[in-house]
Amino acid sequence: MKMRAVILKKFGSAQEAFEIQERDIPTPQDHEICVKAEAFGLNFADVMARQGLYQDCPPLPTVLGYEVVGHIHAIGKNVKEFEVGQRVVSLTRFGGYAEYAVADARAAVVIPDDMDFAAAAAIATQYGTAYYCAQYTTQLHAGEHVLIQAAAGGVGTALVQMAKNKGCIVYGTAGSERKLEYLRSLGVDHPINYNTDDFETKIKQIAGKQPLDVVFDSLGGQAVKKARRLLANGTGRIICYGVASRSDKAKGILGDLKLVAGLGVLPVVSLLLKSQGVTGVNMLRIADNRPDALNTCLKGVVAQIKSGELNPTIGGKYSINDLVEAHDFLGNRQSMGKVAVYWE
Ligand SMILES: NC(=O)c1ccc[n+]([C@@H]2O[C@H](COP(=O)([O-])OP(=O)(O)OC[C@H]3O[C@@H](n4cnc5c(N)ncnc54)[C@H](OP(=O)(O)O)[C@@H]3O)[C@@H](O)[C@H]2O)c1
Repeated sequence: MKMRAVILKKFGSAQEAFEIQERDIPTPQDHEICVKAEAFGLNFADVMARQGLYQDCPPLPTVLGYEVVGHIHAIGKNVKEFEVGQRVVSLTRFGGYAEYAVADARAAVVIPDDMDFAAAAAIATQYGTAYYCAQYTTQLHAGEHVLIQAAAGGVGTALVQMAKNKGCIVYGTAGSERKLEYLRSLGVDHPINYNTDDFETKIKQIAGKQPLDVVFDSLGGQAVKKARRLLANGTGRIICYGVASRSDKAKGILGDLKLVAGLGVLPVVSLLLKSQGVTGVNMLRIADNRPDALNTCLKGVVAQIKSGELNPTIGGKYSINDLVEAHDFLGNRQSMGKVAVYWE
């Protein structure tokens, strides 16, 4: 049987990079499920992959996509937790931009039939990453001062909701007044436009010299250096989970060197003396090495959505026929919350 899949055939603009082709429907391996997708989510990593800036992108031609929402079409023989026909969201680890996609069963969770597909798509990569960062690998405590970079985005929105739920004082950065308004609506205490204000100076003006207990960084480069200067002794921890600033830089070794130079050197002895921590997060490595941890995070997210503690923002819903517009919307920094694409 055949299906449609979106092939990334070359790096470049969304217009020239993608082509829809017919492919065979994949067969799940023993530990996998195959999902008939109603929709798939977009992630910023897809934009970087399309630009040729994403290290983990498979060789071209390939099919991008980290998550699908849909009904289980087939299950591998070792999968006991699911049945054909259940509605799930699953982390696909590429291959998601397709009408059928396979996923490790531990990277899938059952979702209610009436859950909006775009809200459901936010669960896997964006809320899953936020949960791992803020509720699994580190814990937040009431009253802590927390900086969330690019806070209006998909992962950013999830982190804001989690930090506010814990009673933290949240500083959230974003690149436009429209996004700052959105951050206020989420309850961010100190929204900062990092395109017009230097966030380091601004936070020092608001809260003094080294006020931050936790920084969630998705920018990389100089932003991490600045965040380290704002970090409190004793409790300070930085969770680095992205390098969006890389997308502004030249491709190749020069761009990589600039990024590394921006990050600076981090002596362990300094962390020890100041009692600080830095954690790097890559959900692909977690999916590879600790699928049980991923499973805990996804189930935690679904439970908190059901209880009303978390509420994904839908940034945009696009037909498959408008995939180019959807990619540009995310890539041009217009989106807030989750962008998803449905099949028709
Ligand atoms: N480590 C992991 O496993 C993992 C998993 C998921 C996501 N991530 C990372 O988390 C970050 C957020 O992902 P997401 O899918 O939720 O995307 P997103 O935040 O919805 O979109 C990216 C946002 O980043 C901001 N940004 C800052 N500098 C940018 C630049 N130079 N170019 C373009 N955008 C820039 C923009 O917001 P402003 O307009 O407000 O600046 C943009 O809207 C990304 O860096 C992604 O790679 C990492």
